[in-house]
Amino acid sequence: MKKISQALPLLGGITPEQFLSEYWHKKPLLIRQAIPGFTPLLDKDELFELAAQEEAESRLISFFGKHWEMQNGPFEQLPVKEKKDWTLLVQGVNLHREEADALLRQFRFIPDARLDDLMISYAADGGGVGPHFDSYDVFLLQAHGQRRWKISAQKDLSLVEGMPLKILRNFKAVQEFLLEPGDMLYLPPHYAHDGEAVGECMTYSIGFRAPSYQELGEAFLHFMSDTIELPGRYADPELKPAANPAEISSAMLSNIAEQLEKIRFSEEDMTIFLGEYLSEPKRNVVFSGPDKPLTPKRFTQAAIKNGVSLSLATQMLYKGKHVFINGESFAIGKEDKVAILKLANDRELDGNGVAEASEDVQEALCTWYEDGWVQLKAK
Ligand code: SIN
Ligand code: CO
Repeated sequence: MKKISQALPLLGGITPEQFLSEYWHKKPLLIRQAIPGFTPLLDKDELFELAAQEEAESRLISFFGKHWEMQNGPFEQLPVKEKKDWTLLVQGVNLHREEADALLRQFRFIPDARLDDLMISYAADGGGVGPHFDSYDVFLLQAHGQRRWKISAQKDLSLVEGMPLKILRNFKAVQEFLLEPGDMLYLPPHYAHDGEAVGECMTYSIGFRAPSYQELGEAFLHFMSDTIELPGRYADPELKPAANPAEISSAMLSNIAEQLEKIRFSEEDMTIFLGEYLSEPKRNVVFSGPDKPLTPKRFTQAAIKNGVSLSLATQMLYKGKHVFINGESFAIGKEDKVAILKLANDRELDGNGVAEASEDVQEALCTWYEDGWVQLKAK
């Protein structure tokens, strides 16, 4: 499906392999005309419309005097155009627009488990989110107008206290670039940067996902609470009269410790946990199936004719025989493998693929279609 050894204009003429070994997590890369002649996927008004919707996650950041302000959307109204120094950020545009999804998928040399979303920012002249660092890698693609990026590998990442957003206390730029539409800047995690709009501009951030181990650990223990089985109940047939009634006895503690130590987790538990965790839809994602779904028989006929594709917000992953879709997991047999893996990797399955799929897979496709996870392709 993908040509990972091919040099990409998107990466300035180097291969994904070279990019990952030389730049990823290591150093910035400026790519002039990563997408030559790039034009915005949605205009300013369309972006503002999205920011007015409940399902889109948006923030408005402004800087007046020496004061940063941040508000969360949805926004019915935005500052007037003539007002300087404000930025609108709309997260997860790929969940709402096909073209934004297609752009994000150009970065699929990074696995889906790490790709996060496409965020679009609109800034009035002089606008920006201030000098800061991010905990994740980011590609900053200039979509409209110009933005001046100042960057620094500084170790001092201390922040100004009491601000509603992360602002570096001592930002000292060492490099400066003026980005035009189609230019792109890659920054590794924790790389200090500050982007200022030169005239009004729009910037697209291709963001990545890197959960903290703490977050993973907490979620794993939660997952295991649904999975563990510890039969029996505490009993103490040898109980002795209590001299100190408030004290927990050593006998009770060791009895219970012995039982709790029976809690084990296997690699399979961790696989299922991770797949369900990573494919869990984002908080604001709502799937809606067709108003008048076809009957299963009709659906399969139509799917064999037209093929199917995953809905924009569907996350489908797999590991070995375990398949994960939107936070649910199931194990597949050999006969299901070709169709399921193709659907997950290509995010679509053509009519032949559906026709050759096992009955179980065809049934699953129909359920996912009813749930809005999968859709029929238009012919
Ligand atoms: C922006 O687009 O204004 C902010 C992007 C970033 O600095 O990560
Ligand atoms: Co940033």
